[in-house]
Amino acid sequence: MGEKRNFRVWRGDDSSGQLQDFQVEVNEGEVVLDIIHRLQATQAPDLAVRWNCKAGKCGSCSMEINGKPRLGCMTRMSTFEPTETVTVTPLRTFPVIRDLVTDVSFNYQKARELPAFAPPAGVAPGEYRMQQVDVERSQEFRKCIECFLCQNVCHVIRDHEENKPAFAGPRFFIRAAELDMHPLDARTDRKDMAVEEQGIGYCNITKCCTEVCPEHIKITDNAIIPMKERAVDRRYDPIAWLGSKIFRRDQLDRPAGYATTAVASRPNAGTTSSPAEHAAAAGAQGDISMNWHREAAVGHAAPVGPDGKLPVTEFTGELAGAQSPFGDDVAFPMAVQDITYQHPTKPDEH
Ligand code: SF4
Ligand code: SF4
Ligand code: FES
Repeated sequence: MGEKRNFRVWRGDDSSGQLQDFQVEVNEGEVVLDIIHRLQATQAPDLAVRWNCKAGKCGSCSMEINGKPRLGCMTRMSTFEPTETVTVTPLRTFPVIRDLVTDVSFNYQKARELPAFAPPAGVAPGEYRMQQVDVERSQEFRKCIECFLCQNVCHVIRDHEENKPAFAGPRFFIRAAELDMHPLDARTDRKDMAVEEQGIGYCNITKCCTEVCPEHIKITDNAIIPMKERAVDRRYDPIAWLGSKIFRRDQLDRPAGYATTAVASRPNAGTTSSPAEHAAAAGAQGDISMNWHREAAVGHAAPVGPDGKLPVTEFTGELAGAQSPFGDDVAFPMAVQDITYQHPTKPDEH
């Protein structure tokens, strides 16, 4: 039997609420989410909390513990003094639904506004190749578990609802940076979008987002600052400026000879079904140079209801998001014979 410790938990809904005091048993090795579960089991069966994996990987149990954004399942009770009252409140940046559960659909809306990875035209799924160094460069950003603690702590939107339409937030700056440094992403407007559509200029590098990230992603140093620098280079570099005056825009963005067909409308996108057909298609595509400057279709935001939220059917039905970068006629999982993974340094084993 563990000792009883003091907790204050926020109870309420979108209309009102207050902090409620509890005394709950705490055992050695437990985390805050264990205590919330014990509270549900013994004193507050209707206490709402979102959680899933209890292993720091699903990003569901984000909450504020003694005012700091944390994962409930990764915050050990031994972090606190035994006499300390532990205060648990919902994320402050997002509207409360009930108790510790908030409506984080702002983040899904921002995710939809960011155009998906756009592979180069003329390269079929299964034929993408990139250097290991490029894989590793953005590997850090792919560790994101979408807990939205960074979004919650960012002062640009934390107490400024009015900034939300113009600001995507640190989670989506790392996504934009990841795509911008991806050697196979054919979009050339990631930097401009970061400035004009995602509002990266609002960020003044306070590094609070980096501080709370449970995956220890160096959001500011490795994503936001380099992205800001690249955006500045593009906009204010005198040589780039001079180039933009000498050359026409289409000469800069799409050199002559590059195909402009969107991946989704390539006639042979994903239609190969046998090794022989695939080899023929691959041979034909091998003759086409990569189009690094292809114009990709802009992603579509899903329609929201009058309350500004996504309809429930959006999550249960077929998603009406941005088109698949592989083309709409590619079924997943792909047939094994259609996947031609081959290490660049090894001979083709097919
Ligand atoms: S560094 Fe930028 S994005 Fe991160 S919390 Fe500060 S203002 Fe927000
Ligand atoms: S970047 Fe870090 S803090 Fe932000 S959503 Fe991803 S894992 Fe969470
Ligand atoms: S329950 Fe999955 S991250 Fe905490």
